[in-house]
Amino acid sequence: MKTEQKENSRLRWINLNSAIASVDEGTDIIEGLSKNPKTLPCRYFYDDSGSDLFEQICDLPEYYPTRTEQAILETYAAEIAQMTGSCHLIELGSGSSRKTRLLLEAYSKIVQELEYYPIDVSSGILKTTALDLLRQYPKLKLCGLAGTYEQALAQLPPAELENRMLIFLGSTLGNLNDEQCDKFLTQVQQALKPGEFFLLGVDLQKPIEIIEAAYNDSQGVTAAFNLNILNHLNQRFQGNFSLNNFTHWAFYNRVDNQIEMHLRSLTDQTVILEALEFEVSLQAGETIRTEISRKFHIPTLISVLDNHAFQALQVWTDPQAWFGLLLCQRQCTTNECP
Ligand code: AVJ
Repeated sequence: MKTEQKENSRLRWINLNSAIASVDEGTDIIEGLSKNPKTLPCRYFYDDSGSDLFEQICDLPEYYPTRTEQAILETYAAEIAQMTGSCHLIELGSGSSRKTRLLLEAYSKIVQELEYYPIDVSSGILKTTALDLLRQYPKLKLCGLAGTYEQALAQLPPAELENRMLIFLGSTLGNLNDEQCDKFLTQVQQALKPGEFFLLGVDLQKPIEIIEAAYNDSQGVTAAFNLNILNHLNQRFQGNFSLNNFTHWAFYNRVDNQIEMHLRSLTDQTVILEALEFEVSLQAGETIRTEISRKFHIPTLISVLDNHAFQALQVWTDPQAWFGLLLCQRQCTTNECP
C-alpha cells in the first residue's frame, strides 16, 4: 500500500489525443483505401491485442531485429550513458520498454535522478509497463504519454534534467517512406535543441532469405498480427471485414530495399466501415499494403541525418552488422549558432 503511494507520486499520465482527435479520426484510412494500390497506415496494428502480438513476434526465432538490438544495447548501454551524461529519456513507440530497461539500468548507475517519458498509441501496454518499471527502478520518475509520434513531437515535454535524449528503437523509422521520413526527422530536429541527443535503432541490409523469414514466421504470428489490423478497424470504426477473406503476404522489395506486408483479398468483396460512412470494394487477388519496413545502409542514413542537423557521434552494430544503433547529437544550424 505504502509502496503503491510512493510509486504513484513518481507517475503521471498525459493523453495527447484528447478532445479534438475524433474530428478527423480515420481520414487516413479512407485515404489509404481509396488509393491504387490500396494501403493502410501501420500504426493501426497497435491496438492492445496488436501490441501483444508484436511482443510475441519479438520472441520468434526468425525475428532477429529485437534480439539483435537488445544484444547491442547490452554491450553498449553503459557507453551511451557515459557519452550523454544525465539526461531526460523520452521514447517514441515504447511498447513494453523491454530494450529501454538496459538504458535505465545503465543511467541509474551514473545519475541521481532518472526521468523517463514513454510515448505509445496503445495505452494498455503503456500502463502495465509504467507500473512495472516504477517497481523495478526506485529512482525513476515516469510520465506516460498516450498518442501518436506527430502529437508527441509537436508538444515534446520540456527537459526535466540538463539534457534530453529522444529514443527511437526497433527500426520503426523503417516504416516511413522517404517523404514521411523527411517530415518526421524535420519534426525531431525542431523538437530538440542543439546539444540534445537522438538514439536511433535501425535494421540493416542483409541476405534476403533472412529478412523474408523474419516476416513469414513458421508459427504464423506475423500473419495474425497483419490480419489483426482488420479486427482493430472493425472494432474502432464499426467495420465488417471478415478475416477469413484475407491472407498474409510479405516479401522483400529489392528495388526499394524494404519488406512489404500486404493483406490479399481471397474473393471479390465489399467492406463497410460504418463509423466512417465508407465502403471499399476489393477484387480477388487484390492487396492492401499494411506496412513497409525499410532496411538501411548506414552511410546513406548518416547523410540523411546530417541534412536534419543531426551528427552521428557513434554507430554500434552486432558482429554480423545486422542491426545498427546510432547516437546522434543535434547540431546548431547557421541561424542558431552564436
Ligand atoms: C517494430 C514496427 C519496425 O517493421 O519489423 C514486425 C513491425 N511488422 N513484423 C518491423 C513488424 C512485422 C516492426 N517494427
